[in-house]
Amino acid sequence: MKWSYRRILQSKKPESIASETASTTDSLMRYDENQKMFNYIAPFYDRTNRILSLGLDHSWRKSGISRLGTNPVGLILDVGAGTGDIGLNIVSSYPEATVVGIDTSLRMMQIGLKKTRNMALESGNVFCSANVLSLCFSDNTFDAAITAFCIRNVEDRLMALREIFRVLKSGAKLVIVELTEPQGFIMKPLFRIYSRLVTPTVTCLLSSVSAYDYLTESMADFPSPSRFASILENVGFVNVEFFNLTFGIVTVYESTRP
Ligand SMILES: C[S@@+](CC[C@H](N)C(=O)[O-])C[C@H]1O[C@@H](n2cnc3c(N)ncnc32)[C@H](O)[C@@H]1O
Repeated sequence: MKWSYRRILQSKKPESIASETASTTDSLMRYDENQKMFNYIAPFYDRTNRILSLGLDHSWRKSGISRLGTNPVGLILDVGAGTGDIGLNIVSSYPEATVVGIDTSLRMMQIGLKKTRNMALESGNVFCSANVLSLCFSDNTFDAAITAFCIRNVEDRLMALREIFRVLKSGAKLVIVELTEPQGFIMKPLFRIYSRLVTPTVTCLLSSVSAYDYLTESMADFPSPSRFASILENVGFVNVEFFNLTFGIVTVYESTRP
């Protein structure tokens, strides 16, 4: 079976999508469409990621984790935990941290849970089915939050950031690791060639899905790093900084709840 994200994008988007974080060309999917897509690609997700990122995805996550501080402790929220790599990285290096990974895709979390059990880290890396747009946690619950490659997929990013802000304690950090379209006259065309030729070929061979077409479009549509940093500031985060990794293919945002 082939997954076609174009088919689902033809369906009507709800009014809320036309928020200030989404342009009229934005490739954002509705929540249920996004959930279906991730449930579908879950069995191929880790392998496809590793190959498409040329093995760099681990180091991108590690760079994000390093922005949480030298010794993250307490309760850490991992938004869009997927197959759990962020949580596994944190709890294997910092035993005093407990990671609560939330996600809307049960299939992604099932794989994450299996990996967590194989590494005997169940007490530190837990999963919870939840939508970032309406978190099931009280205000001021978490000592830090991190999200890797998720916020680009969320239909109302402003609402997501407000929810994360709400559940963080005062002084807690939010780190966001996200794919971005590289700029510059060398990297931009190189990246376009890679995403138009290599990405579809690799994903068709590995997973028989074309859902990864969406990856390229959603990267192009995501706000620029400086625009996204100002969205974080509008939500109320302070000390907002961002860093490019691998020629700007990934951007890490660091911010603090005052
Ligand atoms: C590209 S995957 C990233 C997974 C993981 N963080 C990683 O580093 O590989 C994005 C994840 O975000 C989840 N997601 C998308 N929208 C969400 C939402 N509204 N609330 C919570 N999770 C969401 C998807 O189900 C998917 O597992």
